[in-house]
Amino acid sequence: MSDLSEANLGALSAIVDKYRRQPTYLVQVLREVQDALDHIPPAAMAYVASALGVPIGQVEAVTAFYAFFHDRPMGRYRVLISDNITDRMLGSMALVEHMLNRLKLKLGEVSADGVVSVGLTSCTGMCDQGPAMLVNNRTITRLTPRRIDEICELIRAQVPLDDWPSFYFKVDDNIRRADMLLAAQWSPGEALRAATSLGPQGMIHELRLSNLRGRGGAGFTTAVKWEAARNAPGHGPNATRYVVCNADEGEPGTFKDRVLLQSYAGHVFEGMTIAGYAIGASRGFLYLRGEYTYLLQALEKHLADLRKMNLLGRSVCGVEGFDFDIEIHVGAGAYVCGEETALIESLEGKPGRPRIRPPFPVTHGYLGQPTVVNNVETLCKVLEIATHGGARYAGLGTKQSTGTKILSVSGDVDRPGLYEYPFGVRIAQVLEDCGARHPQAVQVSGAAGMCLSEREFGRRIAFEDVPTAGSFMVFGAQRDLFEVARNFTHFFAHESCGFCTPCRVGTTLVSNLMDKIAAGHGTQYEMNELNRLAGVIKGSAHCGLGTASCNAIVDTVQKFRPAYEKRLKAVDFEPAFDLDAALAKAREVTGRDDADAHLAQGMEQH
Ligand SMILES: Cc1cc2nc3c(=O)[nH]c(=O)nc-3n(C[C@H](O)[C@H](O)[C@H](O)COP(=O)(O)O)c2cc1C
Ligand code: SF4
Repeated sequence: MSDLSEANLGALSAIVDKYRRQPTYLVQVLREVQDALDHIPPAAMAYVASALGVPIGQVEAVTAFYAFFHDRPMGRYRVLISDNITDRMLGSMALVEHMLNRLKLKLGEVSADGVVSVGLTSCTGMCDQGPAMLVNNRTITRLTPRRIDEICELIRAQVPLDDWPSFYFKVDDNIRRADMLLAAQWSPGEALRAATSLGPQGMIHELRLSNLRGRGGAGFTTAVKWEAARNAPGHGPNATRYVVCNADEGEPGTFKDRVLLQSYAGHVFEGMTIAGYAIGASRGFLYLRGEYTYLLQALEKHLADLRKMNLLGRSVCGVEGFDFDIEIHVGAGAYVCGEETALIESLEGKPGRPRIRPPFPVTHGYLGQPTVVNNVETLCKVLEIATHGGARYAGLGTKQSTGTKILSVSGDVDRPGLYEYPFGVRIAQVLEDCGARHPQAVQVSGAAGMCLSEREFGRRIAFEDVPTAGSFMVFGAQRDLFEVARNFTHFFAHESCGFCTPCRVGTTLVSNLMDKIAAGHGTQYEMNELNRLAGVIKGSAHCGLGTASCNAIVDTVQKFRPAYEKRLKAVDFEPAFDLDAALAKAREVTGRDDADAHLAQGMEQH
């Protein structure tokens, strides 16, 4: 602690006090510590551990787990450029090179004067207005070489971020097709009042009639989830229940929740409050992904306004005994935290590792209490059901997929952005509406989803055909589907939380194999290995991240095999590096260059 200056000690003390020295706020505290000190030095970790009464090992583990936390200086300006495939298609890698050249830096390196570092990060949720970057967690969209030049100048002159041109940070909604949700006009409290007049059981009954299914990907029936949490008794002397809004939105190509949080926050919060009323909860959390920190201030203001309107707080809407409030937790760059149990771990101030289930969050969630976790879009849909009734809602969409679905469309299209359709819309219709340019494939539901070829464009968006969390990435005829799959394998290897061996080791082996094929050293052996590993990981990974990690490989190998085959060598096995070349240095040192000093191709495998 002696390593901390008086000023820094003062700043840290204010931060821990703001969070009432509660250990569950560890991730929030570390986020603010990093904002104040530019990184989280060991002395700050020790201070936080002592102030929050948690083991130092927990603080170190949390710091190490989240990509946006650093225990050593990473530069006063920490630049992270989005590495999603759509950003790459928009030329992000050339911009990275350009920036590194301008700053005379290597990727991941900190400048000698400690001012700046440049790295890559997974999808920033700006695929409709990329290439994008984060600077100290603030989003900058629409990067061009010129904008990179300007940013380099601002960094060199050490201009505070608040003084950078405000239009750099502008994030557009890009709503291209609005339907039941995006086009509706709601006045604050209207749906909540309808819900309270139905009563908790009545609200859940309407939800059941609506057959609303979760929009976070898995499509679980919302009424079943709410009812289970309502019926779960709670545990211990402080038995209670919680509502969590999953706004982690880390799936590559998905950005619908960003728009809902930016322009429909009232819907999101009201949906959470209705959930709180229906299940008997008094507290809600919105878990906001770290990449969306730019929304935090506006969201906090929104909550304050709702409290003023008595739409949050004590006796909400004048209903005696209905006390409910919402707080926001901000993530720190871990895709796996979107998995609901990992998210709950993160909310509790721990590394975001998925829990073993059962028990499920509806009975044992946040702090072991019954907890409903719902996606942002799901919670918005609740308003329509509360106001107009479940039966009317169920009249739209398909039998198993009622209502509408928002798609985040990006890639080779003229009009990227949000498209809301009734469930059952054909892929071909979406492609036509967004101005797809000679599409050869569509990746639906992100890296974890399905890759559809042209022959499947007649299929429908619906849980009974092509399910989706919302990502819709279009690849034109000129795109290399092998490179698309390779990008996804790197994503999963990077995002694996390391909890279980099949995923931790398997995703790395898969991404190494893809790199080997990309480097021209692939053979049928590597193709067989890809297939074998995909089966092993899918069959034995602990959570959805692992089980979905090879979906894109399996799909692209099956449907776009020439993209792989053109890279394969005829030999059965090719080492990832040239052993004979690697021995050149030894030959030079020993002065030998005879036949015995060389390794013949093909020997190495034995
Ligand atoms: C690796 C992984 C990441 C996930 N990311 C998200 C996410 O960002 N947002 C989300 O709502 N659900 C995500 N989910 C699904 C959640 O675990 C959970 O099913 C969902 O939040 C439930 O809400 P819903 O019933 O409203 O769909 C993810 C699941 C996995 C396995
Ligand atoms: S499957 Fe991967 S992400 Fe999920 S728990 Fe295992 S290691 Fe972690």
